[in-house]
Amino acid sequence: MAASEIPAKRVVLGVTAGISAYKAIEVCRRLVDAGVHVAPVLTPDAMRFVGAATFSALGSEPAQSSLFEGSSPIPHTALGQADDLVVVAPATADFLARYAAGMANDLLTATLLATRAPVVVCPAMHTEMWEHPSVRENLATLVRRVVAVVPPGEGPLAAGDVGVGRLAGPADIVAVVLGMLGSSGDLAGRRVVVSAGGTREPLDPVRHLSNRSSGKQGHALASAALRRGAEVTLVTTVSTPMPAHPRLSVVRVDTAAEMEAAMGIESEKADVIVMAAAVADFRPVKVANRKLTKDDGIPDIVLEQTPDILRALVARRRPGQVIVGFAAETDEPLRRARAKRASKGVDLMVVNDVSAPGVGFDHDTNAVTIIAQDAEHEVPLSAKEAVADAVLDEVVELLGRDQGAPRARGEDS
Ligand code: CTP
Repeated sequence: MAASEIPAKRVVLGVTAGISAYKAIEVCRRLVDAGVHVAPVLTPDAMRFVGAATFSALGSEPAQSSLFEGSSPIPHTALGQADDLVVVAPATADFLARYAAGMANDLLTATLLATRAPVVVCPAMHTEMWEHPSVRENLATLVRRVVAVVPPGEGPLAAGDVGVGRLAGPADIVAVVLGMLGSSGDLAGRRVVVSAGGTREPLDPVRHLSNRSSGKQGHALASAALRRGAEVTLVTTVSTPMPAHPRLSVVRVDTAAEMEAAMGIESEKADVIVMAAAVADFRPVKVANRKLTKDDGIPDIVLEQTPDILRALVARRRPGQVIVGFAAETDEPLRRARAKRASKGVDLMVVNDVSAPGVGFDHDTNAVTIIAQDAEHEVPLSAKEAVADAVLDEVVELLGRDQGAPRARGEDS
């Protein structure tokens, strides 16, 4: 890619203490060749493997490794606030643990806490370490925080061992970085609106009717869409916010009525709508304006049906818009979901059998069938992030069938 295509994008290249740190020199050189401004940041132990002088010579500015010894009085905020992306290659198991824990005990981790830019980590370690549950959990935490991972490859490792854990090739790492800088994922330029979580329908000022939805699948969908380059709006009932991201806006709602209003506004310009939220089907007709007490006797709670948000969105679907519904079922999931897809008029209905072990509510895993008009695709029990990507794969295919679909931004290549 020519330098003129990515003017003055700034990348912090983090290098941690792995044998494959020597490959980061190639990453640095290739990024600079592509016209990227590279600020190398080495952890102190990385310099046991590679020299700062090499990175200073090949990078766009002198390599740094200390919170205290450089020319800037606060180097981590200077780096973190100015960058467009941080890539860490290689990322050791120790680094992943410290980053996932939110530590800031060296210049690299402090910079990562001080940045709002997208982050890419490229793990490299021995197979046993790569497969260790603590490494898997730390990576899963980072993926939930919208950190992109360039997974290691398989082949010769240090000390004559062979297996999974080799740092990805410099060309592959650079391709991911340039792709993210140019927002060129397969959803780049698309606007995606995702709803998540269970709605809460108030009975009185302290009580509500709700359901067991955790919002995890919806948030995983929003993260995956961000990783794939989309502009994402997340309409969610979950109070723990997703980490800030330049292409993410979050709308917090509680009730079905609030979700209906927010989805109505946000979906007007959307290319993709994903209703992953568990909308309460019924709400109390009357909401007491003071706490109901036992002195009032057993309340007669009369319920009414909530608006069907998905149906309303389908009714005013704009040309080319792809609409996805979710169905959590316990009885005859496939039969019910097929009928629901047809009656609601959505492009895809993603169904899970929430009575199966490890599936749906409260879990980090899910097993679904994605039902389209002309095909069905089963996704076996997997991390919710993987399920999200499987759903978005189908969405991308549907968008591709509609070549004339409007674009949110014209910057994807
Ligand atoms: N949905 C919605 N508004 C509602 C209820 C559901 O938008 N009031 C959406 C959900 O977000 C989901 C899809 O419709 O994407 C299917 O939800 P589900 O509860 O399975 O469908 P219902 O029509 O409520 O059918 P059921 O009677 O089986 O609950």
